[in-house]
Amino acid sequence: MKILLTGGTGYIGSHTAVELIERGYDIEILDNLFNSKITVLDDIEKITGVKPVFHKADLLDIPAMDEIFRNGGFDLVIHFAGLKAVGESVEKPLKYYENNVGGTINLLKCMKKYGVDRIIFSSSATVYGDQGVAELTEEMQTGVGITNPYGETKHVIEEILKDVAEADEKFEATILRYFNPVGAHKSGLIGEDPNDIPNNLMPIIMKVSTGEIKELSVYGNDYDTPDGTGMRDYIHVVDLAKGHVAAIEKMKPGISIYNLGTGKATSVLEMVTAFEKASGTKLPYKVVGRRAGDLAKIFANPKKAREELEWVTELTIEDAMNDTINYLKCFAEKK
Ligand code: NAD
Ligand code: UFG
Repeated sequence: MKILLTGGTGYIGSHTAVELIERGYDIEILDNLFNSKITVLDDIEKITGVKPVFHKADLLDIPAMDEIFRNGGFDLVIHFAGLKAVGESVEKPLKYYENNVGGTINLLKCMKKYGVDRIIFSSSATVYGDQGVAELTEEMQTGVGITNPYGETKHVIEEILKDVAEADEKFEATILRYFNPVGAHKSGLIGEDPNDIPNNLMPIIMKVSTGEIKELSVYGNDYDTPDGTGMRDYIHVVDLAKGHVAAIEKMKPGISIYNLGTGKATSVLEMVTAFEKASGTKLPYKVVGRRAGDLAKIFANPKKAREELEWVTELTIEDAMNDTINYLKCFAEKK
């Protein structure tokens, strides 16, 4: 089976590329390198012995996309490519709708033109909005109370995929709703690029540990949680990558939706303590006010993925912290 990974040099895409190659899949990667580096391909080769065919292309460049598909012979697309900085999406909504939604429409048109009718899409727990409960299941209504354009793009793309599946009975789409990916490959060669500037907890913890940021701002300690800080379902990126392999093996016509999370919520302060324990150093932090749009606690109900995909997470927060610290060490040595 030949698989095209859009956004395959990025954080989640590169880990999935490794898992796929190790299981013998033939993969190609398409990325515009907006938020990743070409050297990731060498790192994938160091880990797996295989350097994937790479297309430097933008989803918005229709002639380039057409050429890749014309010569591709793909059986399946795993669609990671997208912009993901929540704060930036509030300031530049059109950029996010154009890139994420527009890019996906171009991709789907190319797939149709060249007879590729299977896609796995990187969605997010953000599509659930505020359900008023912490544990999230796939059949809940989505799209209500999403607080930023990034999250809206994920919801809109899910709806587009449902409509395409409605119109074409051969079409197979698996929507994977990721919870909070953390950690790195155990080799230390690939991980979340510390040069990226998102506003997520783990990359900020990484920057505080290297001294690039003075201290972590903990967004509120007055939530209704045991220590008052926000709680999320942090999933090791290698477990998440393996979720894609499981999804490929169980694809079927129509739309299938799965949460990829651990089923367990961890607080900000528990994450700080876990990092300190793994690194043997103190992580400076101060408590500040709540961040607008944040929920107190959410976590995945992963039952559907466990039963239908026969996939469960195996790695812990401790593994994620150890792998992150190892990755930071390797990253510093490479420089
Ligand atoms: P990433 O930024 O590391 O990877 C995305 C890749 O897509 C990058 O390499 C970027 O250069 C590429 N890209 C973006 N726009 C493109 C375009 N128009 N054409 C070609 N390439 C393009 O992000 P990631 O963390 O690996 O996330 C992968 C996917 O998972 C994204 O769709 C993201 O929204 C989704 N997701 C991520 C998280 C998370 O916390 N990391 C959570 C939920 C969902
Ligand atoms: N947090 C801090 N300080 C920081 C950053 C985060 O205290 O500097 C806290 C947040 O308040 C929250 C927790 O750490 O309680 C996690 O925050 P993240 O920003 O890392 O993650 P979110 O769950 O808020 O959101 C992320 C993505 C969303 C995505 C969601 C689920 O930004 O787009 O994960 O996948 F939808």
